[in-house]
Amino acid sequence: MAARRALITGATGQDGAYLAQFLLERGYEVFAGYRRSSGPSTWRLEALGIAQDVRLVPLELLEMTNVLRCLDVVHPDEVYNLAAQSFVGVSFEQPLYTGDVTGMGTLRLLEAVRVLGQGLRFYQASTSEMFGNSRESPQSESTPFAPTSPYAVAKVFAHWSATTYRHAHGVHACCGIAFNHESPLRGMEFVTQKIALGLSRVRSGRQEHLSLGNLDARRDWGFAGEYVVAMWKSLQHPRSDDYVLASGESHSVREFVNLAARCLDWDLEWQGSSDQAVGVDRKSGRVIVKVDPALVRPSDVDHL
Ligand code: NAP
Ligand code: GDD
Repeated sequence: MAARRALITGATGQDGAYLAQFLLERGYEVFAGYRRSSGPSTWRLEALGIAQDVRLVPLELLEMTNVLRCLDVVHPDEVYNLAAQSFVGVSFEQPLYTGDVTGMGTLRLLEAVRVLGQGLRFYQASTSEMFGNSRESPQSESTPFAPTSPYAVAKVFAHWSATTYRHAHGVHACCGIAFNHESPLRGMEFVTQKIALGLSRVRSGRQEHLSLGNLDARRDWGFAGEYVVAMWKSLQHPRSDDYVLASGESHSVREFVNLAARCLDWDLEWQGSSDQAVGVDRKSGRVIVKVDPALVRPSDVDHL
């Protein structure tokens, strides 16, 4: 029997790399969509030792003709749409670009699926960020969305586009509403990776202190390697649906910093109000962390 074919958009990102690895292990032929850049972007696939095992295909979500050509050439059984401008902070500075890639990019792909992708299954990477500062906690598949960032607005557009294509055009479109998931392959600008890297740089004398924004935000952090399994499982159900993917446990950024600092033998005491807080090591009196108000977002989701 021929191997099943999976196309991953955003295969050079954190989740894309783990998903490609998982699908290869299950015997899939994996087509890894990547966009053109001036330097190599396949470092995550290389880190997992699978860069030679996937078939790299150029896939730029801003370019409809490219999206159509890609689907036409690959003929996938399953499409995982993971490509996005995924950094919430940047979306406040680049709202139009974020809307175009993250929102309209999904719609372009869905249109291509409608035209060319008879019978394929489509996974959309929706996000807990769509819940925003929802009044309901914990959130579920039926919690109304209340997005508070241009990124979340674009993701709500993409999410509703996918469900509309499910109902209106019979596309087997499944949305995984994923809470935060992290790993050693996480992008450097996201808070867990920034804290881990930043504190180790401070420890080794390569950085004076770590600057952070909102310390009191709470997130449900899981491990990305497990979330990609949930993505695949969601898509295997005979009926397409929406699923919340979460661990069910939330912690604050401050707790995360305290724990990471302890790994480096620091015991932090917090001084000052939350918008000017500093984290000082109790033993040495050294300032390890400083809040920089410029890193506080114009609006943030307080508690996911
Ligand atoms: P990521 O590491 O930022 O990866 C994003 C991927 O999208 C990268 O491969 C990137 O390519 C690609 N991309 C960006 N713009 C593109 C464009 N115009 N055309 C084609 N590809 C483009 O994100 P992630 O953490 O793996 O997340 C995967 C997906 O899940 C995203 O849609 C994200 O919004 C969503 N999500 C993530 C989380 C989480 O906690 N990680 C939670 C909920 C939802 P380059 O490598 O060239 O930049
Ligand atoms: N990045 C960053 N940098 N975040 C900081 C900082 C900082 O210096 N200081 C505090 N934070 C706070 C942010 O304000 C936010 O409340 C929290 O840490 C987590 O920020 P990120 O790690 O950037 O993740 P996110 O929750 O905004 O978004 C991630 O998760 C979403 C799912 O809920 C991304 O992966 C999104 O793509 C994903 O949809």
